[in-house]
Amino acid sequence: MKIKGESYRSVWVDRDDGFSVRIFDQTRLPWSLDILRLQTHEEVATAIATMQVRGAPLIGAVAAYGLALALRRDSDSDAMERDAAMLAATRPTAINLRWAIQRMLERLRNTRPADRVRIAYEEAALICDEDVAQNEAIGRHGLTLIEDIATAKRARGDEGPVRLLTHCNAGWIATVDWGTALAPIYMAHDKGIPLQVWVDETRPRNQGAALTAWELGSHGVAHTVVSDNAGGHLMQRGDVDLVIVGTDRVTRDGDVANKIGTYLKALAAHDNRVPFWVALPSTTIDWTVRDGLAEIPIEERAPEEVTHIVGRDENGTVRSVQVTPDGTAASNPAFDVTPARLVTGLLTERGACAASPEGLASLFPERSDWTRPRSDHAPSGRSAETNQAG
Ligand code: MRU
Repeated sequence: MKIKGESYRSVWVDRDDGFSVRIFDQTRLPWSLDILRLQTHEEVATAIATMQVRGAPLIGAVAAYGLALALRRDSDSDAMERDAAMLAATRPTAINLRWAIQRMLERLRNTRPADRVRIAYEEAALICDEDVAQNEAIGRHGLTLIEDIATAKRARGDEGPVRLLTHCNAGWIATVDWGTALAPIYMAHDKGIPLQVWVDETRPRNQGAALTAWELGSHGVAHTVVSDNAGGHLMQRGDVDLVIVGTDRVTRDGDVANKIGTYLKALAAHDNRVPFWVALPSTTIDWTVRDGLAEIPIEERAPEEVTHIVGRDENGTVRSVQVTPDGTAASNPAFDVTPARLVTGLLTERGACAASPEGLASLFPERSDWTRPRSDHAPSGRSAETNQAG
């Protein structure tokens, strides 16, 4: 993506020293564009845990470079396994993190310690390149979806823009490039399809208000930030043609973990017959789990993210202010699980499919060998009416 005419990815190796890892400090956006230089795997772990770098695909890619940094210090097998485990534990919900570390270990385990640093940098670069290609493909498949909606609107005599709603930030800054949910939006905009994007602010950390609004604004896409509570009302009024979100982990049955509040948007979309699509690279599918509610760990973050809010004051200083009475208890689950039955479809690099075992198996037949039965935990309503395509 371009910032002021210059092309960037969200992570890259420093061109001067050839080893340190460069990222944008996402806790400083949209107020300033600070580039961090991470020189150790401990710094990478801190950047992931504090969300200086965030978004499921991006934390996987950065963690892969984190392992390369760790190997620069100690490339022994024991140290490699220990440092890999430390990096994998920095955030629990997004499966891309564990996927990337696992892929790195599989590539590195049977190599000589003396070769490992070079191989690790090469493998991390491959992970990054593949992420970019996958997200671009997601964008192309999602573009078709938006084009179809635009055509249907015209056929009804509706000359207005395609109105999308998105939650959190699943844009280029959450991936190595392009984004997942935002990739089709960028492509549709570039193709001249008029769009209007409702951007959920996404409390408590405001990834929508801060990051998605910044990304869309930088690209010239028309957008409006709304409070998290507004989505249902907008859908009831007929002001949303399509909801599209990213995800941190999809089960092989099609359940979707994403930023807290996504489930409520899916419920509102279902009630109002608004298509609810989830965009993901296949690195976000956890083939080892079926029941999202029972099996996906939900990250619990610091209560201060709820009791306080960060913003820029009238003097231009970025500050955190308290919004609750002193001593108020707060709980901060960072993700929720949307059951597959509320998901109209999944958009992957291989195309669109139903959020179901059959749908995923149709796109990824090489993974259809997994036979573990679904766990007993079945939330009521799972057999209720669905919001699925077809
Ligand atoms: O806590 P975050 O900001 O890392 O959560 C990010 C999300 O929930 C995104 O929607 C998801 O990672 C998809 S990013 C392409």
